[in-house]
Amino acid sequence: MLSKQKHVTWFHVILFTTLIPLQRRVNGNPLVMDPNSICRKTRMLAGRHTDLCQSQPEIIQEVAKGARLGIRECQHQFHNHRWNCTSQGRNLAKILQQDIRETAFVYAVTAAGVMHAVTQACSQGALPQCGCVTLQSSSETYRVSPAEEVLIQASSLHDWHWEWGGCGDDVDFGYEKSRQFMDIRQRKGKSDIRSLIDLHNNEAGRVAIQIQMRTECKCHGLSGSCTLRSCWKKMPLFRQVGDQLMQSFHTAVRVMGGNDGKSLVSIDPDAPPLDANVLIYSAESPDFCKANHRSGTEGTGGRACNRTETGPGGCDSLCCGNGFADFTVEEEENCECRFHWCCEVQCQTCSQRKNVSLCL
Ligand SMILES: *[C@@H]1O[C@H](CO)[C@@H](O)[C@H](O)[C@H]1NC(C)=O
Ligand SMILES: *[C@@H]1O[C@H](CO)[C@@H](O)[C@H](O)[C@H]1NC(C)=O
Ligand SMILES: *[C@@H]1O[C@H](CO)[C@@H](O)[C@H](O)[C@H]1NC(C)=O
Repeated sequence: MLSKQKHVTWFHVILFTTLIPLQRRVNGNPLVMDPNSICRKTRMLAGRHTDLCQSQPEIIQEVAKGARLGIRECQHQFHNHRWNCTSQGRNLAKILQQDIRETAFVYAVTAAGVMHAVTQACSQGALPQCGCVTLQSSSETYRVSPAEEVLIQASSLHDWHWEWGGCGDDVDFGYEKSRQFMDIRQRKGKSDIRSLIDLHNNEAGRVAIQIQMRTECKCHGLSGSCTLRSCWKKMPLFRQVGDQLMQSFHTAVRVMGGNDGKSLVSIDPDAPPLDANVLIYSAESPDFCKANHRSGTEGTGGRACNRTETGPGGCDSLCCGNGFADFTVEEEENCECRFHWCCEVQCQTCSQRKNVSLCL
């Protein structure tokens, strides 16, 4: 129990420092994250994180950025769901204390977000500890994957050569940092099924990046003749990572502790093996239709819904049968934008009437 408590607390610090700027940004005030304030807050948590925090102030900034990226992606993926990945820190903390599917997604997407943000910072030269990587020709990764072989065969150029070059993303570094900052190892000798689940889901998030790494190439040679190409490995867009994790969310596997108290087993004997691309959970979700501050649910009253849609996001499903009402709202938008030489775009603000349906 203690290690879970600790985990939540560390997560809490990251999320609060993550969510507060998110909310401020809405008011048009981007906020620069202060690594010192994060370290000050984590000082209360004894152990590894305090040291990590103080010895790597640049990284902590990227960690926070990554967690924010993860939460924003969560909100995008869930905007049509009854649970919309709430932006209220307190409710999110309550959700994270339960081992439900939604929690699995949040852990996975934030661990992936941290890996993505740190790796990105490396490639942009923003961190002294890391940079681009060029794979060595002798390295195992030189092998052309099946998809790339198809590309080569389809190419009309038979005699072109390629080599690793350019600025490859150093995902191994990002992976390691995500592990260091997001995974709390169980305390020695103490087995905790819940933290096993969280660690599994963190790993699933990072694996979602690894399995979608792609190869980008650039042509060289006289007047673009492409007799030589250099290729490098790039991470997927974070949206693709979110999409992938959302699929895993829908096929998440319910587990329980094994007899030895140190392992996890699926409840359904026909479930797929618990490898690193499945999300796992151990408890059923609360009723997201009802507001309940004990379980951190907000209900769906006041949510905008689509009256003609019959699937997710439609008023029928989103409003939980409580009905909805139509309102006309005025929305301000940019309009009549003109380009002024050079280089400015000036717009006017127009207000537009829009019909929206809101859940009762
Ligand atoms: C989620 O829904 C609540 C209402 O239940 C709303 O107040 C909030 O703005 C929504 N959050 C996001 C990120 O869409
Ligand atoms: C509502 O749903 C319909 C049907 O699925 C879709 O065509 C339409 O674009 C949606 N409207 C909005 C405002 O999202
Ligand atoms: C909004 O709804 C009203 C009444 O149903 C309708 O007359 C009006 O044309 C609608 N406006 C828009 C912008 O769709």
